[in-house]
Amino acid sequence: MSGPEPSPVVLTTADGGRLEFTCAPGSSVLEAAAEAGATLPASCRQGTCGSCHASVTGGAYELGPYSEQALPADERGRGDVLLCRTFPCGPLTAALPYEQSRILYGGIPVREAVITALEPVAQDTVRLELRLDGETDCQFDPGQFMELQVPGEETKRAYSLADTGNWEGRLEFYVRLREGGRFSSYLARRAAPGDRLTVHGPQGAFGLHETGLRPRWFVAGGTGLAPLLAMVRRMAEWQEPQPARLFLGVNEPHDVFGVRELAAVAAELPGFQYEICVWKPLPGWSGPTGTPADRFAAALPELGGVAPDVYVCGPPPLVDAVLRAALLGGVPPEQVHRERFLAG
Ligand code: FES
Repeated sequence: MSGPEPSPVVLTTADGGRLEFTCAPGSSVLEAAAEAGATLPASCRQGTCGSCHASVTGGAYELGPYSEQALPADERGRGDVLLCRTFPCGPLTAALPYEQSRILYGGIPVREAVITALEPVAQDTVRLELRLDGETDCQFDPGQFMELQVPGEETKRAYSLADTGNWEGRLEFYVRLREGGRFSSYLARRAAPGDRLTVHGPQGAFGLHETGLRPRWFVAGGTGLAPLLAMVRRMAEWQEPQPARLFLGVNEPHDVFGVRELAAVAAELPGFQYEICVWKPLPGWSGPTGTPADRFAAALPELGGVAPDVYVCGPPPLVDAVLRAALLGGVPPEQVHRERFLAG
């Protein structure tokens, strides 16, 4: 008597690449791909972050437990899945929402880095800069993240890269310090320039899509600014011609950060506008108020019916609010590119 057979799986990337492998009974598609030598974009590997999102195009499967914030019901209803929670029950085909270049065939790079700067930039938010140790090749796509390992522990936390790829080995992050967070506690209590950290990456599928001259609108909640800052910095470096607009929202005025960095992009990139809004303004705040999703929704009609490519990063409620506002404003869902925060 033989047990259940492995299931053949075919994955197709956004640029037409094909990945074929078999998935043993009890293995997720994500695990089976890694077993076959292809590390797909993923982060939590337990159904909570949404970064392994894909669309099943054929075949039967079971879906393990997952958070609805990672896979909302309407996306699930369209056949979307989380590959870390997808268990095929026979031949399966699925479409990946990213290009082949985001698949790591040699596994996730693991390197050592040294803290070169650690500075508060707002209440409970720090800017962390690292240099790769003995290496200058620091190439990645804007939008990607690294997992940083707490020294002396196995614990890793994912943070988006805020700068662009470079040949100086430089990595820049913005970290919101969360009470009780493992990496947050390390940064708040023990970390200092000169510390060595192990970094895993770059990883992740979030990034700019080439769609001609279509406007690019970016919406960030708090440190969700990091990957979007990397994107607009790249646009400035390459002098890309698409009109670009960025909405950053924070809770209170003392949470505002990134002003100098956004102003620097605006100085270099014609056609780039940005605004920072505060949800709970205190006396003395004279800038925009509300959430960045509200500001985004209010501004959409200014495009006169042109649907921009939308890039959003922040806490799940903000990401969902921007998606709703975009759809209501006539933006097709495939033009809304999302990265949800993981609690760190
Ligand atoms: Fe699958 Fe996070 S890696 S949901």
